[in-house]
Amino acid sequence: VVFLRKGSARARLYSLAVAAALRGHGIGGVLLDACENDARERGCTHLRLEVRSDNAAAQRLYQRRGYRKFASRPGFYEDGATALCYEKIL
Ligand SMILES: CC(C)(COP(=O)(O)OP(=O)(O)OC[C@H]1O[C@@H](n2cnc3c(N)ncnc32)[C@H](O)[C@@H]1OP(=O)(O)O)[C@@H](O)C(=O)NCCC(=O)NCCS
Repeated sequence: VVFLRKGSARARLYSLAVAAALRGHGIGGVLLDACENDARERGCTHLRLEVRSDNAAAQRLYQRRGYRKFASRPGFYEDGATALCYEKIL
């Protein structure tokens, strides 16, 4: 799920998920590529996202694909967990 805002060149990756039984086969990467291509085609120059600091699998996926961490937000999630904010220039 990618959010776009009229007049903004920054798209936001709100949610990315692969069924548990199918993880680790490259599907997450393919979905992320599709999100990036779609955002680019719609004129966006940046894609931003938040990820839980304890979600190592997702962080690795984003880091390997050129996302850089620019902020952290303690208490961002309902259970008090910290969010790491990542951004990629498209
Ligand atoms: C994050 C998620 C979407 C990745 O989907 P996936 O289809 O498993 O991802 P891929 O198979 O394309 O793997 C991409 C990279 O993720 C990393 N990765 C995937 N599963 C991993 C695991 N269990 N442990 C550590 N790293 C893992 C690997 O670094 C992999 O890179 P590589 O291909 O160079 O090895 C999936 O784990 C998921 O749905 N998780 C639950 C929901 C979630 O956390 N969403 C992200 C919220 S921001």
